[in-house]
Amino acid sequence: MLGKLSTAVVLGLVALLWPHISLLLETQQLQTITPDKLTKVNVFKEHEVKFRELLKNCEDVILVEEEQVALLSCDPGRDNWNTVMGNFRDPSGAGILYQWFYNDADAVPTPIALEHPTNGSYYTTDFHPLGIEYHAPSGTLYVTNHASHGPTLEVLSYKPWSGFGRAVAKHVRTIRDPAIHTPNSLIPLSATSILLTNDHFFKVRFNRALARAETQLALPGGNVVHVSLPPADAPADASANVTTLARGLPFCNGIALLNSSTVAVASTTRRSVSLYALSPAPAGSPAWAPPSLSFRSEYHAPAFLDNLSADQNGRLLVAGHPSVGALSATVAQRMTCNDLRAKQAAGAALDEAERVTEKECDEEEKHVKAATWAAELSFNEDGAAVWRPLLVGNDIYGSSATVARDVKKGLTFVSGLYERGLFVGKE
Ligand SMILES: *[C@@H]1O[C@H](CO)[C@@H](O)[C@H](O)[C@H]1NC(C)=O
Ligand SMILES: *[C@@H]1O[C@H](CO)[C@@H](O)[C@H](O)[C@H]1NC(C)=O
Ligand SMILES: *[C@@H]1O[C@H](CO)[C@@H](O)[C@H](O)[C@H]1NC(C)=O
Ligand SMILES: *[C@@H]1O[C@H](CO)[C@@H](O)[C@H](O)[C@H]1NC(C)=O
Repeated sequence: MLGKLSTAVVLGLVALLWPHISLLLETQQLQTITPDKLTKVNVFKEHEVKFRELLKNCEDVILVEEEQVALLSCDPGRDNWNTVMGNFRDPSGAGILYQWFYNDADAVPTPIALEHPTNGSYYTTDFHPLGIEYHAPSGTLYVTNHASHGPTLEVLSYKPWSGFGRAVAKHVRTIRDPAIHTPNSLIPLSATSILLTNDHFFKVRFNRALARAETQLALPGGNVVHVSLPPADAPADASANVTTLARGLPFCNGIALLNSSTVAVASTTRRSVSLYALSPAPAGSPAWAPPSLSFRSEYHAPAFLDNLSADQNGRLLVAGHPSVGALSATVAQRMTCNDLRAKQAAGAALDEAERVTEKECDEEEKHVKAATWAAELSFNEDGAAVWRPLLVGNDIYGSSATVARDVKKGLTFVSGLYERGLFVGKE
């Protein structure tokens, strides 16, 4: 009797959990598929990977279309410090924000100097920008920073600058809040109102095993929070109010505003994009009152989704990792290579096996193993979702993290988490 009962319980549980189990089983296929087995796609008439020598490990690219500027968040130090994937070798290599006037054929990306409002440079080390976003009307730049002393949201004042002298972003304030614990992407709704994703509940830095389990089992630990910032002229140490708007999102990653009432959020481990209706706080509420999000629909994709962006036509652009095993292999190899280089730099000789590995390091950096999956999600007349892959594979450009598009110029940009340069395609 008991036997029958427990069998029934087990069967019941399996039936209940089946959607989640089958999701995990499908994920297994992404773990093992190698990039050469992917169906390669490249829809661009012309393409180029620009600035291979200059740019490395750029997670994010955002466009300020009115000024035809691309802002890039790059962290060459990610090889040694990646708080999302759990690599804590050395935080000292600082990340760099670049501006690039992409419509000027002679322009190259130039670093944006981060300055204290009254004196000298602000961050020279321990700056690990991940998500960046720009609010053009107020000239505010927001950065999620995975610093070694804990994650922060940096608020900077910046205007794209193509004139003489360097481009500068002046520090306005640093927000530290327990509710901004694993910040990933963000979007400003106004100068002082921001939606931000926390990718995990457990921080891999302090709870490696639990954070791994959260990733592997696609547990719903991520969330979307609203950050109400003090006005720009408030004292630098004024605090923000942080409110959770949506919870229970497994590995909550990119976020984008499709139109004034629809927010898209990517779940990496559910391999999906969810749309939420965005409603402003009720009339008569104070200015800092948070808006609300209500879940609408979810769309699955054949890749671990990373970052999202929306183009001016309201098309959702999605970047992801179609071959997770290859991405993990890249991360692991970068760590090994850095160890070998550190050993060499310290004057120690490499043995035969290490020399072979070291040669492969240079090769791997020239042709990163991790593959790209860059696609567009649109809706046909009867509201059905249609994925249109734009660039898939690793033969042209690897490890896609963000896709952005300038609709008027017909230019699409793809940045790569562990890649050199920036992919630019013309449709
Ligand atoms: C600039 O001033 C701030 C606040 O007074 C101080 O914390 C910081 O260390 C100064 N930076 C430099 C580079 O002098
Ligand atoms: C992803 O891209 C969007 C829009 O381009 C940007 O706002 C966001 O900060 C990016 N996030 C990351 C983690 O790159
Ligand atoms: C935070 O909330 C308090 C009320 O709880 C309000 O007085 C304050 O202005 C808010 N601050 C910001 C920056 O939103
Ligand atoms: C915003 O986009 C969603 C999803 O495509 C659509 O259903 C909705 O009608 C759009 N709303 C507006 C105001 O354009």
